[in-house]
Amino acid sequence: MELPVVPLHQNKKYLTQCCKLINDEWKRSETARMHSLESSSDNLPTNLILLRNETVIGHLKLSPIPSIKDACFVESVVIERELRGKGFGTLLMTKAEDYCKNCLQLKTIYLSTKGQEGFYNKLGYTECQPISIYGSYTSTTSTIKYKDKNKCNNNE
Ligand code: ACO
Repeated sequence: MELPVVPLHQNKKYLTQCCKLINDEWKRSETARMHSLESSSDNLPTNLILLRNETVIGHLKLSPIPSIKDACFVESVVIERELRGKGFGTLLMTKAEDYCKNCLQLKTIYLSTKGQEGFYNKLGYTECQPISIYGSYTSTTSTIKYKDKNKCNNNE
């Protein structure tokens, strides 16, 4: 299944489609969502989209972690509702990991989930101590998962 995962800011014609995909899952004002998506850049934050036949079928956001320079925080991972359970989420995450490693030179990916632990466990993420993702604030309520790119087994 060779579908492209590309940075949103280099493919701005997909902004509206991307906004709708995310808002169909997590309702938020279109203005606020578009504002957030427009902050995507070559440096973090970066929004990546999964395309199939010129349609956005997946999205995730890579955010900086001020206290950990060689890591990022993955959030808003979403696959088009009708296409879930077909491997697209795995494809999106795997390509995002390659992007983090090869384009951003990052070593660790952190994320937080309540409800999708099984999905991330299958991808090799394991639980770790809470980390601070906003300056000095330390999250104590979320389950933070991480994947250390040095330990991960990929084909390169
Ligand atoms: N619990 C257990 N296993 C799961 C779950 C789950 N919640 N979701 C998927 N899996 C399994 C699948 O069965 C599959 O197993 P298999 O390889 O043995 O067949 C494997 O994980 C891979 O599944 P995919 O088909 O690649 O996943 P999918 O395309 O459905 O994408 C996603 C997963 C992104 C979580 C999708 O279901 C979705 O968009 N959900 C709604 C939004 C959401 O909750 N996003 C995550 C928020 S957390 C965050 O953003 C960090």
